[in-house]
Amino acid sequence: MVEGVNLPRSVKRILVPVDGSIHSSKAADMALDLAKKYNATLCILHVAAGYAAYERFSEAYEGRVNPEILTDTALNTVRSQGEAYLQEVEAKAKAEGLTKVERVYSAGDPADEILNFAERNDVDLIVMGSRGLGRFSRVFLGSVSNKVAHHAHCTVIIVK
Ligand SMILES: Nc1ncnc2c1ncn2[C@@H]1O[C@H](COP(=O)(O)OP(=O)(O)O)[C@@H](O)[C@H]1O
Ligand SMILES: [Mg+2]
Repeated sequence: MVEGVNLPRSVKRILVPVDGSIHSSKAADMALDLAKKYNATLCILHVAAGYAAYERFSEAYEGRVNPEILTDTALNTVRSQGEAYLQEVEAKAKAEGLTKVERVYSAGDPADEILNFAERNDVDLIVMGSRGLGRFSRVFLGSVSNKVAHHAHCTVIIVK
C-alpha cells in the first residue's frame, strides 16, 4: 500500500448523477453493473439546474427572473418531471435485480450538489457521463464532469 493514500477496502455506496442524456444513461448502466459486483447501494441523483433551482435559491434570483415564467406550477412541473425520470432509472436498476437503490432529487448547481451529496453520504464511487445535455460537443469533458472530477474526494469514473 502506498503511504498516505487512503485506498478504500470496499465500495458500499455508488452515486450516479443523471441529467437525462444518453451519456448519463450509459453511466447508469455501468454504475448498475458495479453496484451488483460490490453489492453496493446505488444512489441516483438528479439536479434541477438553472431557473429550476429557484425553488431553493429564490433570494439569489431576486429581480433576475421573470416571475411569469417561474410560477409554482412551472416549478412543480420541473420537479415532477425530475422525480418521474428518477423513477424510470430506478425501475431499470430494479428490473436488473438491484435491490438497494435510492433516488435523490435536488436543485441548484449540479456539480456542487453532486459533490455535497457525495461528501455527506459517504459515497465511495461516483460514476458519471463525460458529457451531458450541453451543446458544445467538441470538448471532451462537460463542466459538471470536469468540476466533479477535480474536487471529489472519492474515486470518479467518467464514462465515455
Ligand atoms: N443536472 C444534472 N443532474 C445530475 N447529473 C448531471 C447533471 N448535469 C450533468 N450531470 C452529470 O454530469 C455528466 C456530464 O455532464 P456535463 O458536464 O453537464 O456535460 P455537458 O456540458 O455536455 O452538458 C452527465 O453525463 C451526468 O452524469
Ligand atoms: Mg450539462
